[in-house]
Amino acid sequence: MAESTSDESVLQAQVPKTKAARHPTNRRLWPLTLLLSTVVPVLAALLVYQLDSFDPAPFPIHELGQTPISASLRNDHMLQGAEFVGAGKLVGPEDIAYDSESHLIFTGCEDGWIKRVRLNDSTVESVVNTNGRPLGVALGLNNEIIVADAYKGLLNISRDGEVELLTDEADGLKFKFTDGVDIADNGMIYFTDASYKYEFHSHWLDVLEGKPHGRFMSFDPITRKTKVLVSHIYFANGVAVSPTQDSVIFCESILRRCRKYYIQGSKEGQVENFVDNLPGFPDNIKYDRDGHYWIGFGSGISATSELILKYSFIRKVLAIMDKYFTLPQIRENAGVMAFDLEGKPVAYYHDHKLTMIASGMKIGNRIYCGSIEYPHIISLNLDQHPARATL
Ligand SMILES: *[C@@H]1O[C@H](CO)[C@@H](O)[C@H](O)[C@H]1NC(C)=O
Ligand SMILES: *[C@@H]1O[C@H](CO)[C@@H](O)[C@H](O)[C@H]1NC(C)=O
Repeated sequence: MAESTSDESVLQAQVPKTKAARHPTNRRLWPLTLLLSTVVPVLAALLVYQLDSFDPAPFPIHELGQTPISASLRNDHMLQGAEFVGAGKLVGPEDIAYDSESHLIFTGCEDGWIKRVRLNDSTVESVVNTNGRPLGVALGLNNEIIVADAYKGLLNISRDGEVELLTDEADGLKFKFTDGVDIADNGMIYFTDASYKYEFHSHWLDVLEGKPHGRFMSFDPITRKTKVLVSHIYFANGVAVSPTQDSVIFCESILRRCRKYYIQGSKEGQVENFVDNLPGFPDNIKYDRDGHYWIGFGSGISATSELILKYSFIRKVLAIMDKYFTLPQIRENAGVMAFDLEGKPVAYYHDHKLTMIASGMKIGNRIYCGSIEYPHIISLNLDQHPARATL
């Protein structure tokens, strides 16, 4: 011990001398130091940028800077007065289907479980585990639950809990991210694959790449055929069949719009905008059997999201960084917006503190909101906490 202490003091005594001795050399070497400390890393970063094969869409993905649509009735603080249903027993309950006869809500969770929640007392029961990531849920005509499972494809779950794969590819292309689903009165199933390129846990990369990898499809339960109805969708998401059964709305998240696909009448097979320039990125869309569609927004738009979508080089840098770090994602000001059947916004419920709202299902005088993150379903009494007229 004593010896090493004296060694240290000898070393310490030498330090100032060495520094002084090095000083002149230092001056001569500073261009080299500068080169090593700044130019080389910058060149290395440029090289990494050039060599990386991630190739985002070059232009602004959609028109930016327009004032997003709003509704004349608003509740800007929907968390105030909100109740948390099934707290701690539901991991990221994404979509919600409601059986009005049994008063049960069905939802799919992050841990693969399809759960059902009794509305009268909020009891949570497990139905079946898909061993995937169930997202969209809809109730079938034969008492089954049809599930769009991000990893497994389109599933049929009987009330006995048997899981059957209905389809997981179309036109020779496998689904990578089965996402939203709804069923027409005639039994035809309409659903989306958000992306044939990126899976659920890489959905952020699909946003950054900004290219249309999504498809909107139908599955005929009689012929068992899967048909691509619309392809080249920028993140195909929620699906809702219209109450008149003449069209199906699907959400196109990255473009902040929802489209209407006609399944009957003179416009059959045509597609047009249902709503555009939404104030957030639409996830699921649900019809409330009362004249309104409800669209859930995972995040509202912000200066950051506009910047990212505008510049492809920022998206590329973020995608490269995403390989090494967990980057914070743009998630703020989530909510739900109600629309009439013509696509006119009616009421907007949101909160700056909310993130990743995935769906809004109106049952009675309450809105029930699913999410891919929260451990509960958010429920708000709309009579007690209404959206009010704003100036
Ligand atoms: C809720 O409904 C179930 C099934 O109908 C019933 O067994 C239960 O007692 C009800 N709970 C309450 C609190 O009413
Ligand atoms: C799902 O499975 C149930 C039970 O086997 C069956 O009755 C029903 O027709 C199936 N639904 C579809 C859409 O294939």
